Amino acid sequence: MSVDARQSLLCWYAVDKRRLPWRAEAGERADPYRVWLSEIMLQQTTVAAVKPYFERFTTKWPDVGALAAADEADVMREWAGLGYYARARNLVACARVVAGDHGGRFPDSEAALLKLPGIGRYTAAAIAAIAFGRRAVVIDGNVERVVSRLYAIATPLPAARAEIRARTDALTPDEGAGDFAQAMMDLGATICTPRRPACAICPLRPHCAAFHEGDPERYPVKPPK
Ligand code: ADE
Repeated sequence: MSVDARQSLLCWYAVDKRRLPWRAEAGERADPYRVWLSEIMLQQTTVAAVKPYFERFTTKWPDVGALAAADEADVMREWAGLGYYARARNLVACARVVAGDHGGRFPDSEAALLKLPGIGRYTAAAIAAIAFGRRAVVIDGNVERVVSRLYAIATPLPAARAEIRARTDALTPDEGAGDFAQAMMDLGATICTPRRPACAICPLRPHCAAFHEGDPERYPVKPPK
């Protein structure tokens, strides 16, 4: 993707981005606690399902200190329905480490974030970029699909992941990596969907190799059975 294409993507995002309760207004920095909580909730769970949980959690526990002091059973009750309950136990453990060992502030580097309970490669990169403006390479399933199509990556998953990472790294800007990552995720969730992508309204269509080939659904290529 040229600088041009990245600019089209960011312009599209500025206008059409989803207004989500954990996102900052334009020009403001997002709250690391809210970014962390939303990213944990969004693992294996849709935005629509997460929204009411996010609202209840942040009303009841408005900051990481409040969550660290919560009764774990109470947190598990509020989590009920979201599934993957290890996430909720790690949530409390992580809040307690941030409150106890980091003075109540999330560390701002990917490496330090990775050491916290429940924070893996994707989540560390997402928090570093979105909440702290760090340059980090953020790859989830949506980004994987967008990049596979943009470059018509013919290697099947999971082998394709090395090329996807290299391509995403090359695309990630030095400034605004958080907006770039969220723009790619929103594009994957709303336009560059697994089935019947809406290429007619896609800001990346002029740059998309899979569109030019004529069958974007072919990408990412699935592993042979
Ligand atoms: N899915 C997970 N995290 C997201 C984010 N920050 N923006 C859009 N979709 C997401």
